Amino acid sequence: MKQIGAQISTKNFYKVTVICITFILCFSFILVLPKINSFGLSNNNITSLSSKNNSSFMETLRQYPWEALLHAYQNKKNDTSKFSLWCSKLFLKLTPFIIAESKVNINFSCTPPPLQFPSSMSPCTKLSKPRKVAVLLQHGFDADTLEIHFHELGELVDKFFIIESTLTYYLGVGKPLIWERLKEQPRFEKFVPKVVHLVLDDEELLKVQLETVKEEEGQIKDSIYNIEAFQEKMRWLKFLRWNNITKFFGDEDILGFGDVDEIPNRNVIFHLKHCEMFGYPVDIGTWFPYGRIYQAFRTDYPVGNHAYTYGDPTYWTFKKALNFARRNNFKKIPTRKRGTSGNFVVGGIHMTHYGYLPFQLAKLLTTIEAVDVGVQNKFAKIIRFLMNELRMNETLSKGEEIQAFKNVEEELSKTPAEFLGRIVKVEKLKLEFEEEYTLLVKLPWFYDCNRERYPTWEGKHDERLD
Ligand SMILES: *[C@@H]1O[C@H](CO)[C@@H](O)[C@H](O)[C@H]1NC(C)=O
Ligand SMILES: *[C@@H]1O[C@H](CO)[C@@H](O)[C@H](O)[C@H]1NC(C)=O
Ligand SMILES: *[C@@H]1O[C@H](CO)[C@@H](O)[C@H](O)[C@H]1NC(C)=O
Ligand SMILES: *[C@@H]1O[C@H](CO)[C@@H](O)[C@H](O)[C@H]1NC(C)=O
Ligand SMILES: *[C@@H]1O[C@H](CO)[C@@H](O)[C@H](O)[C@H]1NC(C)=O
Ligand SMILES: *[C@@H]1O[C@H](CO)[C@@H](O)[C@H](O)[C@H]1NC(C)=O
Ligand SMILES: *[C@@H]1O[C@H](CO)[C@@H](O)[C@H](O)[C@H]1NC(C)=O
Repeated sequence: MKQIGAQISTKNFYKVTVICITFILCFSFILVLPKINSFGLSNNNITSLSSKNNSSFMETLRQYPWEALLHAYQNKKNDTSKFSLWCSKLFLKLTPFIIAESKVNINFSCTPPPLQFPSSMSPCTKLSKPRKVAVLLQHGFDADTLEIHFHELGELVDKFFIIESTLTYYLGVGKPLIWERLKEQPRFEKFVPKVVHLVLDDEELLKVQLETVKEEEGQIKDSIYNIEAFQEKMRWLKFLRWNNITKFFGDEDILGFGDVDEIPNRNVIFHLKHCEMFGYPVDIGTWFPYGRIYQAFRTDYPVGNHAYTYGDPTYWTFKKALNFARRNNFKKIPTRKRGTSGNFVVGGIHMTHYGYLPFQLAKLLTTIEAVDVGVQNKFAKIIRFLMNELRMNETLSKGEEIQAFKNVEEELSKTPAEFLGRIVKVEKLKLEFEEEYTLLVKLPWFYDCNRERYPTWEGKHDERLD
């Protein structure tokens, strides 16, 4: 913030926007439900769920009744259930593509460099016993980013706790459980034994939905934070219950709280695992490329004076975490601290704004409310853009189809104009702040070995759409 040379109002606008975006990214999978009458829709239609369809992405999009979706959107204040039904159907259509593995195979001859203690951290004073590591992730519908996260930390982490929800955003639409599908895929096979899948189901979400309805009617405030708190609280409580039975993690073991796309550098976790630290909790300052791997975004939640970091995830010792919760009577629980922990290290990446189109569309679907806050009817505008660009009523040649997808990918994944002022090219950072660049700009090894698997990070077309 200190480096924004603009007026207060602009600063606040940025702040609000960044808070919104953070919120969207973190809680896109469970937002608010305004009308109780749509609860009945939260059951998935099993017939359409089982869509193991091999039609192309274009075909799939063409089969979808976009006009009906738009009509229901315009009318959603009158009839929430129609709109939520069409959203749900679209989500189910997107799911096979969201979870689809890249057509570019993993390069198995590319292996991670040896682990080493980061030179930017104090020299390692070895612990008598390495700490076990738990990573607690909120999961919406990431697949590729989860793959990168797992490969970055897999050998250091003892358990990944993945929490996801059966309902999406504010209409309470049924959401397919993504990990349930991913775990069948060979690419995730070796990580499956380390994963503990936590699910928030319709019943558990009901209370938050009801409270949110009350808040819509002006009875309680800050429901957004109630929901955020609820997600994070349940992640923590479910972890505690799990550990109460297994007794797997002890006082000095560490727990990382974050999202799938907040990926610490493995050497940092290697240090936390084996070396004494000045204090916990500790925020991991992550580089934030914002959709394009050659960028760095100046965030509102940096660590220290590292303006181009984002202060998440946060790692706690189990003892500190438990004491914190007890001290606050479990009204406050340990979670990410966005750079406010007081202790920080720099190293990792926040892989937000991933450009793969099915992922982008799913994100759009789960954030309609937030999307519409800035620009009225923005959701409809994006859908119209999609329909026009993809020329859904015409027969296209393969070449035209690919070009159409390229246009849409480019438009939806580009950096929004209002953020351009806070983005630098990493090359520029290298020229002007070389030390910062060297500290910050480190690619996850698996991404670096397999860049062609995730081409939209470089603004290229993803062939899974063809
Ligand atoms: C469920 O989906 C299938 C296929 O899309 C459709 O034929 C069926 O009518 C749907 N059932 C309900 C209850 O919506
Ligand atoms: C699968 O694709 C075929 C045609 O390609 C279509 O008729 C069918 O409805 C699709 N099924 C689902 C469940 O989407
Ligand atoms: C879908 O599967 C059928 C039979 O398994 C195959 O004949 C057809 O070519 C496939 N279509 C596509 C688009 O892959
Ligand atoms: C939606 O509801 C409002 C008031 O409840 C009503 O005035 C309007 O005509 C309704 N619109 C449609 C399309 O039903
Ligand atoms: C795979 O990785 C190895 C080691 O980095 C590299 O030499 C090789 O060119 C890569 N193969 C492909 C197909 O990219
Ligand atoms: C852990 O288990 C003990 C004994 O069964 C129980 O008293 C305690 O409430 C449990 N704590 C949690 C957090 O579940
Ligand atoms: C596409 O065709 C449908 C029905 O044939 C029509 O309602 C719709 O307006 C057309 N959309 C565009 C963008 O031309």
